[in-house]
Amino acid sequence: MPMKLAVCVSGRGSNLVALLEALAGSSQADVVLVLSNRADAPALELARGRGIAAESLDDHRDATEWLRRLRTHGVELIVLAGYLKLVPPGVIAAYRDRILNVHPALLPDFGGPGMYGHHVHEAVIRSGATVSGATVHLVDEAYDRGQILAQARVPVLPDDTPATLAARVLRAEHRLLPAVVLRAAEAGRPVVLPEPLELSP
Ligand code: GRF
Repeated sequence: MPMKLAVCVSGRGSNLVALLEALAGSSQADVVLVLSNRADAPALELARGRGIAAESLDDHRDATEWLRRLRTHGVELIVLAGYLKLVPPGVIAAYRDRILNVHPALLPDFGGPGMYGHHVHEAVIRSGATVSGATVHLVDEAYDRGQILAQARVPVLPDDTPATLAARVLRAEHRLLPAVVLRAAEAGRPVVLPEPLELSP
């Protein structure tokens, strides 16, 4: 039986698409639900267009609502792919060590409250770092703090703007997240990936 996944999104959904494309050839995992805190998230339409149940939360702080929706679809693993709100503690407790997040920097640096979207890349460039990247980690009660499962590195170039760096990091996210999810599906639970990572181009 494929592992049943929910993917949580707040915006455009490019990581969702990358994941769906990677899973298309796999019998290991299946996205059964796409969940958003925003009814107008473009990612919901992308999911519906592919015949996947796509729902928006009436109250993203309400664990009971989350769990009702997740359990209705038999969700076993939750993937946060551009989901920008905190997951309620009741959901973290019910899915302990079965929630993943992709973050557009090399945690533990450049994470935490307020570190999302362009803020992350601005902070990286401001710091003078010459390397950035993507991180997939387990989700606990705080933003960006859970155990790191895998990272992919990209260079920060001297003439980078937040937008050019974001685009380079996003390409790394699109390879890293599916790799971690597929490995979790194979193992039956999230696992730490060995480094250096062999990512498909
Ligand atoms: C990604 O950079 C992700 O790391 C961050 O938000 C962005 C979402 O992009 N948390 P998308 O919605 O997957 O296109």
